Amino acid sequence: MATVLSAIQTTNQLHLGNYLGALKNWIPYQDEHRCFFFLVDLHAITVPQDPQALAENTLISAATYLACGLDPQKSTLFVQSAVPEHAELAWVLTCHSSMGELSRMTQFKDKSSKHGAHIPTGLFLYPVLMAADILLYQAKYVPVGDDQKQHLELARDIAGRMNQQYQKNLFTIPEPMIQKVGARIMSLANPDAKMSKSDPQAGATIFLTDSAKDIEKKFKRAVTDSGSVITDGDVSAGIKNLFSIQAACLGKTPEQVHAGYVGRQYGYLKVETAEIVNQVLEPIRTQTAQILADKGQLLAILDDGATRARETARETLNAVYNSVGFIRKSTL
Ligand code: TYM
Repeated sequence: MATVLSAIQTTNQLHLGNYLGALKNWIPYQDEHRCFFFLVDLHAITVPQDPQALAENTLISAATYLACGLDPQKSTLFVQSAVPEHAELAWVLTCHSSMGELSRMTQFKDKSSKHGAHIPTGLFLYPVLMAADILLYQAKYVPVGDDQKQHLELARDIAGRMNQQYQKNLFTIPEPMIQKVGARIMSLANPDAKMSKSDPQAGATIFLTDSAKDIEKKFKRAVTDSGSVITDGDVSAGIKNLFSIQAACLGKTPEQVHAGYVGRQYGYLKVETAEIVNQVLEPIRTQTAQILADKGQLLAILDDGATRARETARETLNAVYNSVGFIRKSTL
């Protein structure tokens, strides 16, 4: 059984891009693969976090995983910081990566440009920690949105390099699984930027916990262009984004959605996209609230997941430690 693995940062609550680009696509793997899905709080602290908000966002995100259909009986669900092997392997991988390759990461360039002269070191090492997340579990398939492709490439490079240097099968070489539709949902306030958890612009991001009213308001205000009627030719980035959102929600192609709107006003597209998104998110919202009502049970699920995750993680880490020459009683 091939291993499938993915994760989301807990810097804020999850948004529509996280759902359509990633989370939604994890669910079908659960029946026929060995699955690890987790919440990456070590990644979250690469930029300053309010501790209370971080803890709350982690719990809400975990509840959202369950509400979206992740089943703790089928998949291993846990919080990254509860499995210390992630940080341990990250150090070894750091020593097998170069400043040059990490400096080329576009996400690092984007994020570091917001920090002036005080760029957090964690931001630079972030992709190595992500490689550790993946390689620890010998993951074959990693379902992610389009923005994680370069990080996956780095994980593949490090794995290949260490396999060559130490032993051929030390790590499985992971493959990114990126959907054709919904892999890059754009901000509703600026359709040239991707939708993100930390976008300060009002109305830019649809959070999975937003009320139906908020969703409607945000879509009504979505930035499009100065036109008013949809033509059958080229359309602007803002309109295209709404087509993609509808398409990903309905299992259609953006072209099919476009065809249904030719000759109609922008206003209809906005209102109907809000309705479709709300239909998808309403049951998730309700279920998330129900799950959060029993935090004890939620924490027990995560604890159990961490215990199971550690068994696999330790196996890989032991093999890595043996390979690089760290001594243990068990290696004698
Ligand atoms: P994060 O938390 O930024 O995003 C989580 C997942 O959501 C996808 N995504 C999007 N998809 C479509 N449109 C968007 N606007 C959009 N924004 C985000 C991301 O591609 C991702 O799949 N580094 C990762 C988290 C991570 C991880 C891992 C992922 C840490 N370790 C190991 C996979 C495997 C990140 O920051 O994702």
